[in-house]
Amino acid sequence: MANAAMSFERRNAAARVPGAQDLCMHWAQAFRAVRAETERRAARLSAEDQAIQSMPDASPTKWHRAHTTWFFEQFLLKPHARGYRVFDERFAYLFNSYYVTAGPRHARPQRGMITRPDASEVGAYRAHVDEAVERLIADADAASLERIIPIVEIGLNHEQQHQELLLTDIVHAFSQNPVSPAYDPKWQPPKVQADNGEFAEQPAGIHAIGHDGADFCFDNEQPRHRVLIEGARIARRLVSNAEWLQFMADGGYATPSLWLSDGWNTVQNEGWSAPGYWQQRGGEWFALTLAGLKPIDPAAPVCHVSYYEADAFARWAGKHLPSEAEWEVAARFDLLADAFGAVWQWTRSAYSPYPGYRAAEGALGEYNGKFMVNQMVLRGSSLATPEGHSRATYRNFFYPPARWQFSGVRLADYA
Ligand SMILES: [Fe+2]
Repeated sequence: MANAAMSFERRNAAARVPGAQDLCMHWAQAFRAVRAETERRAARLSAEDQAIQSMPDASPTKWHRAHTTWFFEQFLLKPHARGYRVFDERFAYLFNSYYVTAGPRHARPQRGMITRPDASEVGAYRAHVDEAVERLIADADAASLERIIPIVEIGLNHEQQHQELLLTDIVHAFSQNPVSPAYDPKWQPPKVQADNGEFAEQPAGIHAIGHDGADFCFDNEQPRHRVLIEGARIARRLVSNAEWLQFMADGGYATPSLWLSDGWNTVQNEGWSAPGYWQQRGGEWFALTLAGLKPIDPAAPVCHVSYYEADAFARWAGKHLPSEAEWEVAARFDLLADAFGAVWQWTRSAYSPYPGYRAAEGALGEYNGKFMVNQMVLRGSSLATPEGHSRATYRNFFYPPARWQFSGVRLADYA
């Protein structure tokens, strides 16, 4: 939050943004665009689709639509919109995710048990909050804009994160359905550059990583600080399905020496023998995608692999995973093909605070800081990341066994 506020002030100072009226118009348009994108993504899903929760980590579409709305109601409207009427007092309990400071909440694994409010009531909740936010922005003077814009901005970035989760979660739900439904039968995978085994030399020395600019970033991308990069070589291309098939054919999933101990336990317990959503039919491999069940394209980047699998693959290939600092420096030097928009790329970096990081006070300080243990950082962005939500300093993070995200692999090597 503190960072969002800072970015707003800096932007004003640096870009000489015109008067309050232009700012109101800019933010009203941004608000409408992001809110509409959530509804566009949800519109392909029936009310039945929208209610399902296929595992504790995934949430129903309807919950994503309501929770992102609650975020604006809780953090923007309640404290800042005079006379705002809460849509339904009971929704805070249902749609608070993990903000302990914001009050008690429904158990995450039980989100799929909520049939009421139904999808159309959630639509009415969204419309109610949209109207109040638009009125708040339209009526704001310069002083109140300075208070509310940082909250609008983090609310929109938060909603964009849920737009991606909406897709990853519904693919997981569809993966439980023997008829392999398609989210969008016309969906096409992103075009990527073919892997040619080429590695780029990183300029060794001291580099700066982390966000430092006028545009928005999450607090976990700061402070910007120096890192030492020592003789790293980083793959220009993403690891492909063809390479992954070689790993499988070479007994990758059956060779304990390739795996971390926790990874090998997971392979055993889960019975993994291929990436997530892969299935063999008549000797051929298929995978469930947003377009339904499709034959594996050998040239496409491997997707739906966990950190454990990425790590084992790198060991099998005689290579490594890059650190997040190496990834970010390489992205800055434009050494990476398909850094964004295909698959998130696992790094070998544990998700921990940058030097001097402090989470903000209050409920929004719970956004990122309290998760900085036991997870690994992914860099880049994926085919499901909404437009305008990617940047070189972005730190995504998931637990090492997670593979329902659009997560893939880029290798590194050392002299
Ligand atoms: Fe959230």
